[in-house]
Amino acid sequence: MLLPRTRLLAWALLSVAAVRAEETVPYLDRSLASEVRIKDLLSRLTLEEKIGLIHANSKFAAGGVARLGIPLTWTDDGPDGVREEVGQDSWVPAGRTDDFATAMPVGIAMAATWNPAMTEAEGRVIGEEARARNKDVMLGPGLNIMRTPLNGRNYDYFGEDPWLTSRMTVAYVKGMQSEQVVACIKHFAANNQETERNAVDVEMSERTLREIYLPAFEAGVREGGAMAVMGAYNRFRGDFCCENDYLLNTILKKEWKFPGAVISDWNATHTTRGAVLHGLDLEMGTRGPYADYYLAKAYEEGIKNGTYSMASLDDKVRRNLRMLFAAAAIDGRGPGSINTPAHRAAALRANEEGIVLLKNEGRLLPLDPNQVHSVAVIGDNAVRTFAAGVNSAGVKTFHETTVLEGITARLHGQADITFSQGYRGPEQKKGKRDATGVQSAEVLAASALEQQNLADRAVKAAGAAEVVLFIGGLGHGAYGDDEGTDRKDLSLPGHQAELISRLVAANRRTVVVLVSGSPVEMDGWLEQVPAVVEAWYGGSTAGEGVAAVIFGDVNPSGKLPCTFPRRLKDSPAHASGLARQFPGENGVVHYDEGLLVGYRWFDTKKIQPLFPFGFGLSYTNFAYSHLAVTMGNNGVGSAVAKFDLTNTGSRAGAEVVQLYVREPQAPVDRPEKELKAFAKVFLKPGETQRVELQLGQRAFAYYSPALKAWVADARTYDVLIGSSSRDIRLQGKATFAQPSVSR
Ligand code: GLC
Repeated sequence: MLLPRTRLLAWALLSVAAVRAEETVPYLDRSLASEVRIKDLLSRLTLEEKIGLIHANSKFAAGGVARLGIPLTWTDDGPDGVREEVGQDSWVPAGRTDDFATAMPVGIAMAATWNPAMTEAEGRVIGEEARARNKDVMLGPGLNIMRTPLNGRNYDYFGEDPWLTSRMTVAYVKGMQSEQVVACIKHFAANNQETERNAVDVEMSERTLREIYLPAFEAGVREGGAMAVMGAYNRFRGDFCCENDYLLNTILKKEWKFPGAVISDWNATHTTRGAVLHGLDLEMGTRGPYADYYLAKAYEEGIKNGTYSMASLDDKVRRNLRMLFAAAAIDGRGPGSINTPAHRAAALRANEEGIVLLKNEGRLLPLDPNQVHSVAVIGDNAVRTFAAGVNSAGVKTFHETTVLEGITARLHGQADITFSQGYRGPEQKKGKRDATGVQSAEVLAASALEQQNLADRAVKAAGAAEVVLFIGGLGHGAYGDDEGTDRKDLSLPGHQAELISRLVAANRRTVVVLVSGSPVEMDGWLEQVPAVVEAWYGGSTAGEGVAAVIFGDVNPSGKLPCTFPRRLKDSPAHASGLARQFPGENGVVHYDEGLLVGYRWFDTKKIQPLFPFGFGLSYTNFAYSHLAVTMGNNGVGSAVAKFDLTNTGSRAGAEVVQLYVREPQAPVDRPEKELKAFAKVFLKPGETQRVELQLGQRAFAYYSPALKAWVADARTYDVLIGSSSRDIRLQGKATFAQPSVSR
């Protein structure tokens, strides 16, 4: 019988031996390359454990092998911040008090900054907060191109242009993954409408796919290194995106050499065979018991009876393990942080940089906070908050500053502020959630009498004040800026247009601030209103950003990431009025407009937009001069454009310089011009900077389905430098003696 002391010594020796033995286990050996560790770990997993790793076992988690120290894989929404916790197997909020988070401005607001440093910071902020909440994979950013201004999720994405979207994506992914949290770029691919999103079949040409709808995903994977891609709900050329051999195996995994995992959208998986053979690696959100998932028991049986190979399963497991290693799930990572002042500061900076000054007649703005004595703040959106409760992009914030709060705080009691609701935004009577978690809602409109009363009181308040700040726009919920439904038209709900006309008639000094996430029409009031600001949904600091721009603490530098059409019919997906183009006919939607999305359509068809892509005013002015374009600086088919930019005004500001390429008399159909480079340049009054914009071969190329490659003809191209797509300031030429081909 061992004496106590001896027993203790024996235990200690055994423990050390065990640890030492464990340290020699390759998958736990940090000195080894992750592929070596993954290979070792894979060899230790049983069939059942492998199957458990590739499908959900709760609403947002999957996998976990306690025997080997593999934790659960925790995913979570969303693109603008870490979603509040929901029930283990339900969408209903769990009502916790440890899941408040920082809400960054929504995707389209981030894109409106035209500053990848903002989405890089966003990736870091959400990554730190995700680490603090023990999340391994964040389900964002959303990259789907704005094909129609009606898409309910336009607010959640980066606008209509592939190059702008790809630059914001790469920065976001790099920022987030540098925090050891995996970014899951979504929704792959062609999920450009919410109407019938679970079934609609998308048809488009190969060039349209390659040149418009794939570039941001390709950049996210090949430049950003995204370790997860979410398969979309819709079909593409007949097959569901989560079981689409061409999209997932041919393009994503073979051509782009994507090493990570394809995760299904929630309840977007449809067959075992399709999921197994056509590229799905992690099944989430399917209805019914987890054991009945398509990649669960049925797949395990298929392996046992030889229908499916163990190699197919090992590849899926390997991809899931790569995600876990990218999130340091086995080795452990830092604690992360939540709702810090630094996070709030990053949100405010992006918010301020994304606000777009659309009109400023007579320089009504900025208002001098020391000269204003009475302000009428009018509009339901002045007192609403928007970050929470919007399905998969919602964030529960400790505090979201409303616009009224922001204005009140900025004026420090120096002025009388009157608030009048003016109109009632789309009320929602929430209903049940569908299988994808989208909550149905009945839109309740105010009665005519109530509308009249609200408007009359607002007009009276406007007439009695020195200046009117009308805070209107859209909102979330059914048929608004939200997932699950598309908007029905471009109008401002609650008869805002009529109200704005009455307000500006009562007081010429009226500023309209739009709090919204997609284009709206402005018929009937834009001509009379001297100043218009697009503020988007600004996240936790929303009201602070608006006040900073209105009162001149910040010089607005945002530019539109999407075209604002004069009317819906001017838009490419709606011009024909044919259902086949939107929202689809017999379950199929045809992208007949092809490459001509957004400004590509408006410029090629010479249609005047209400406000063009890339447009945004400043409180100062900029001059462009001395353009020089040189070729071949960075390989065949490359070029660099250099030019001077001067701040000719009296206050510091930032200009987004944009470079568009045009191939005159091209041998194939090409848009009138295409954005291929941009930069945000901050200048002091009077300062001049020589700006340099690099152009790779792809900047001049179009995709050749015949060659399965990117081709730039040996010709002369126009290089257009502008302050917006419709405000070209300098024009140069790029001439290539040889054609170039790249893959
Ligand atoms: C939703 C969305 C997706 C989200 C997922 C989980 O339906 O389409 O963006 O990440 O389901 O909430």
